[in-house]
Amino acid sequence: MTIRKIARMGHPVLCHPAAAVEDPTEGALKDLVLDMIETMADAQGVGLAAPQVYESRRLVVFHEIEEPSPDEEEAQEQAGAPLIILINPQIEILTDETIEDWEGCLSVPGLRGLVPRYTHLRYSGVDPEGHLIEREARGFHARVVQHECDHLDGILYPQRMTNLSKLIFETESRHWDMPPDDELV
Ligand code: NI
Repeated sequence: MTIRKIARMGHPVLCHPAAAVEDPTEGALKDLVLDMIETMADAQGVGLAAPQVYESRRLVVFHEIEEPSPDEEEAQEQAGAPLIILINPQIEILTDETIEDWEGCLSVPGLRGLVPRYTHLRYSGVDPEGHLIEREARGFHARVVQHECDHLDGILYPQRMTNLSKLIFETESRHWDMPPDDELV
C-alpha cells in the first residue's frame, strides 16, 4: 500500500469526467483501492474519489457516517465506521429538499464552504468483487455520496455553492457556526 499524492483544485484531473471502470475485479484496481483507503486515512478524510489521486476512473471510497460528531472521542470511532468502496456509482435523488452545511475537501486544502445538498438519495454501484451495492442515504451520508460522486464528474464543491461569500479559510471558522474539526472529503 502506498500513500498517494492528492491532486489540488486547478489540476485538470479534477476538472473532467472520469472514465467508467470496465472490469471492477481487475487486479490493478484492488491496489488502487488499497492506496486510496490508506491515503484517505493518512489525510484524516472520510471520503476520497479516484481523480483525487490522479486516477481518472469512476471509483470512490468513503466511511458510512450518519452524522459527524463534535465529540472528539466519538469522532475517532467514526474512523472505524463501515467503509464503502463503490465502482461506477450512480445516484438517484429521492427528494426536492436540500440543506446547507459546511464542507471541506482534501483537494481544496485550507478552505470551507457552505454547500446545499439533497437530503435523501439512493446510490448503487459495484464493489471490487463485482457485487452489486445498493443503499439509501440521508443527511451527512447523502452529502458525502454527492460530494464524492461530483468528483467523478469533474465538479468541486465551490461549483455547488450558491453564495461564495460563504467560502472561507478554515482559520476563520471560529466566526461561523461550524464544528471545530469537521470532516474532509
Ligand atoms: Ni472532495
